[in-house]
Amino acid sequence: MTDLSTRFFGLTLKNPVIAGSCGMTGNINRIVEIAKAKPGAIVLKSVFEEEIDLLYQKEQSSSYAQNLDPEYLNYFDYVIKEENLGKYLDLIQEAKKLVDVPIVASVSCITSNEWISYVKRLQDAGADAIELNLFIIPSDVKRTNEENERFYFESVRKVSEIVSIPVTLKVSYYFSNLAKMMKDLSSKGIAGITLFNRFYSPDINIEKEELTSGDVFSNSDEYLLPLRWTGILSSKVDCPIAATTGIHSAETAIKMILAGAGAVQIASAMYKEGPDVIGKITNGIEEWMKRKFYNSIKEFKGKLALHTDDITAYERVQFMNYFGNK
Ligand SMILES: Cc1cc2nc3c(=O)[nH]c(=O)nc-3n(C[C@H](O)[C@H](O)[C@H](O)COP(=O)(O)O)c2cc1C
Repeated sequence: MTDLSTRFFGLTLKNPVIAGSCGMTGNINRIVEIAKAKPGAIVLKSVFEEEIDLLYQKEQSSSYAQNLDPEYLNYFDYVIKEENLGKYLDLIQEAKKLVDVPIVASVSCITSNEWISYVKRLQDAGADAIELNLFIIPSDVKRTNEENERFYFESVRKVSEIVSIPVTLKVSYYFSNLAKMMKDLSSKGIAGITLFNRFYSPDINIEKEELTSGDVFSNSDEYLLPLRWTGILSSKVDCPIAATTGIHSAETAIKMILAGAGAVQIASAMYKEGPDVIGKITNGIEEWMKRKFYNSIKEFKGKLALHTDDITAYERVQFMNYFGNK
């Protein structure tokens, strides 16, 4: 029998195909639909630090709020945050009640301040693990590398002190020393790192000469960046890796596992093809394993990871071979 089980989020997942955090996983009906496709886990849409603050500011700017004294506003702020968080806690509880798949809460944040106190409540609501979606765009010319990096370590430390469920990180590639940063973070007791989040990107309309939004959904050729870094990092870090971005097929998922990923997280493909794509990818992995006589994920996971410090295998040599024949 083919065993598709794998480890991520500090849990044994039935298979490596995870429904990644997105709008769909923020809606209970969609979560139930996704669960029918039997993902290894479902990561809920993130509760956003900025979202809570924006709502607060919107309410504050109303004429009603403007007449309130600052002490009341502090209370008002608290009430709004409570309401938003309450909705998220309800989502966790409902999901846990209605589906038989691990439910991972997700927190998106850019500071290690107030939101930290929320995480215990995500655990109490029944989340099986917490994914921290940490991201600072390093665009502030006055902010040092150390300041940016401290945010990641502080967030991990503070959250790990508060909760007992596994904590994983979802990160971007905006680090000056990505490999060392991931290695150092992985040694802080986290249960996994997800490489890499794909963010909203601005684009420019040259006719209107104005800023627009880049494509919200990934294309199937965007997997090469996480593939490279999964290959480079998977044998070096002290925790499992999940790959995300551009995984739209079983073939790409298999590549990620060969490079050393314990799991893959899918979002855009669910929007483009519907949640059934999860089952399609899982079945595709199983069929490939049978054809290749693999009985379990661990028999081929990391087979093509970078096992030595000779980084040229994942970078320069392939580049030179390619152009050397042209
Ligand atoms: C519409 C949409 C909403 C998303 N919302 C979140 C979110 O709330 N939190 C998060 O960590 N990632 C979020 N993501 C990122 C996805 O989880 C995923 O990491 C990223 O889209 C790359 O995977 P993909 O190529 O399969 O889309 C979102 C993606 C999409 C398309």
